[in-house]
Amino acid sequence: MSRVAFLGLGRMGAVMAARLTEAGHEIRVWNRSAEGHRRLAAELAPGVAPPKAAATPAAAVAGAEFVITMLADADALEAVLFGSDGAAGAMTHGSVVCDMGTIGVEAALACARRLHEHGVVFLDAPVSGSVSAARAGSLSAMAGGPVEQVRRIEPVLRAFAAAVRRVGGPGSGQAMKLAVNSVLHMHNAALSEALVLAEHGGVDRVTALDVLAGSAVASPYLGYKRAAFEDPDGQPVAFTVDLMRKDLKLIRAFAAGSAAAVPLADTVSAVCDTVSDAGFGDRDMSFLAEHHRRHPRR
Ligand SMILES: NC(=O)c1ccc[n+]([C@@H]2O[C@H](COP(=O)([O-])OP(=O)(O)OC[C@H]3O[C@@H](n4cnc5c(N)ncnc54)[C@H](OP(=O)(O)O)[C@@H]3O)[C@@H](O)[C@H]2O)c1
Repeated sequence: MSRVAFLGLGRMGAVMAARLTEAGHEIRVWNRSAEGHRRLAAELAPGVAPPKAAATPAAAVAGAEFVITMLADADALEAVLFGSDGAAGAMTHGSVVCDMGTIGVEAALACARRLHEHGVVFLDAPVSGSVSAARAGSLSAMAGGPVEQVRRIEPVLRAFAAAVRRVGGPGSGQAMKLAVNSVLHMHNAALSEALVLAEHGGVDRVTALDVLAGSAVASPYLGYKRAAFEDPDGQPVAFTVDLMRKDLKLIRAFAAGSAAAVPLADTVSAVCDTVSDAGFGDRDMSFLAEHHRRHPRR
C-alpha cells in the first residue's frame, strides 16, 4: 500500500479520499476549512477510522510518494502547491503530484514546469463522473504525463476510478477533460431547455423525463441527473452552475489560444452567466431547467 497525501476535501475530494482510506492506503489529508474533514468523516464506511489530518499542505505531503489534489480551480492549486506552507517545497524528490480537478491546459503545463524544478513529476488527471460515480468507484480519469508515472499511480487511483487512461503528454488530460465537459454542459443546457419546452406544451415533468430517457437522446447523464431535474429543490448539489461557468471559461480560453471554433460553448456560457446573475450560481447544474421555468420568455 502507498503513502498518499490528499489535498482538497470538497464535494468530490471528500468522497475520493474516503474510498482511498477504505482501500487501505496510508493517507494524510488536508483541507483549507474544517468542513472538508466533516464531509470526509461522513463518507467513510462504518468502522473505518478517519485518516490523519495535517495542519498545512506542507505537513500533509512530507514523506508521501503520491500527492493527489482535488481543488476548485487553478488559483486554489497554485495556493496549495506554491503558497505559504505550500506542498511543493516539502515534497520528496521523485514523488508525483496528480491533480484531478479541472484547471485548464495552461495551468497544468505551468504546474508541470514549476514542479519539475523541485524534482517532482506532475500529472494532470481530471475525472469524468460526479459525486455518485466517485462514491461507486466508477470515475473515469484521463491522464496527461509520462507513461511510467501514470502506470505507477494507476493502482492508487483505482480506489475511486474504474478507468484510468493516459491520453498523451503534459496538458493533454486537461484538453480531453475540457472536450468531455463541453459536451456535458451543452447536453445539460439542451436537456434543461427541452424539458421546459415540453412542459409548455402541456406534458408533465415526469412524463417528459420518461420520454426523453426512452428516446434517441437518452444518456447516462440524464439517468443520474433525473432525480435532480424532477425535484430541483429536493436533491443535493453535485456540480454547481458556477463550476459550469468556470469550465466554459477554460474551454473558450483554450479554444481562443488554439483557434478551435466553439460557438455552442459561447452560447451555453451566456446562459450560465444569466442563471448565476439571477442568484443561482451555487445551485446544481440541472437548475438551468428550473431557471427557464421561473423565467419564461416575455
Ligand atoms: N462536483 C463534480 O461533480 C465534479 C466532477 C468532476 C470534476 N470536478 C472538478 O473537481 C474539482 C473539485 O470539484 P468539487 O465539486 O469537489 O468542488 P468543491 O466542492 O467546491 O470543493 C472545492 C475544494 O477546493 C478548495 N479550495 C477552493 N479554493 C481554495 C483555495 N484558494 N485554497 C485552498 N483550497 C481551496 C475547497 O476548500 P474549502 O472546503 O475550504 O472551501 C474545497 O476543498 C473542480 O475543479 C471541479 O471542476 C467536479
